[in-house]
Amino acid sequence: MNSHIPRPASDYPPGGDAFPHRHLIGIAQLTPWEISYILDAAEQWVEMNRSGAAKHDDALAGLTIINAFFENSTRTLLSFEIAGKRLGADVVNMNAAQSSLKKGETLIDTAMTLNAMRADAIVIRHASSGAVQLIADKVDCPVLNAGDGRHEHPTQALLDALTIRRNKGRVEGLTIAICGDVLHSRVARSNILALTLLGNEVRVVAPATLLPPAIERMHVQVFTDMDEGIKGADVVMMLRLQNERMDGAYLPSAREYHELYGLTPKRLELAKEDAIIMHPGPMNRGVEIDSIVADHPTRSVVTQQVEMGVAVRMACLDILTRRKRKVSGWN
Ligand code: CP
Repeated sequence: MNSHIPRPASDYPPGGDAFPHRHLIGIAQLTPWEISYILDAAEQWVEMNRSGAAKHDDALAGLTIINAFFENSTRTLLSFEIAGKRLGADVVNMNAAQSSLKKGETLIDTAMTLNAMRADAIVIRHASSGAVQLIADKVDCPVLNAGDGRHEHPTQALLDALTIRRNKGRVEGLTIAICGDVLHSRVARSNILALTLLGNEVRVVAPATLLPPAIERMHVQVFTDMDEGIKGADVVMMLRLQNERMDGAYLPSAREYHELYGLTPKRLELAKEDAIIMHPGPMNRGVEIDSIVADHPTRSVVTQQVEMGVAVRMACLDILTRRKRKVSGWN
């Protein structure tokens, strides 16, 4: 936990000082009040998106946003596209499978090419940790990390924090169990950073083979017993088994994993009576989570997470392009 936090998360400085960063690479670069600033900014977009009125704003009219996804995505890609369009920007999705990367072009040359097209913001997903920072160092416009390897997925952590705050009335002082394949998960890493920074008790729950070495240095409590790990939790956040990142045998079988670590209705009884169930998606139903839990009408907030994703990404695109748009208070 950060004992040196100079002010409460809600008490952030005004204008440009509240978010001084050019890029959004990771939660690790943010302070608690910078996180709160983004969450507060997202609230207006939740309301607009829910309103019956035309879901459109022209804050980013005339700007071009490029989504460059070098790895598969449904939620993140679509929500960044919808977010940009709802703010009036021109959004272009680069199809990595059909790009010149397939002809041997380097990532840096691809970045320089996007830069030469004078994009106003670039959103990047890449399978390699650090690839997004590499591109950010080469281009003139803001870069937003949509997930890089096992490193970070900052907008996922922000949308998760907003979902928790809206359901629990706060996102501090809660007990949050992050369960499953922590080792391969950038979602887990970004969430651990954000949720500990905001003052929650964060537990990680996984078999020893799916825990990163020295994970306790991230100020989390470590559990290898699922029942112990979710006991009394306010939030149970399940993670997908990332088989595509596994280069060996980490588990005896999916069936045994479900037996020991799957979130079943019976196991959920160990959490607080009003605990919410989260999953970043895509879900492996019947492996890390049972359908009856994933679809629980009052306790599962999985679809709300998707909804908050659009609002949070609208807030991030708006905030990061303010300097370019010369919005007052931003130099
Ligand atoms: N949660 C998440 O990042 O989902 P996608 O891979 O579908 O974008």
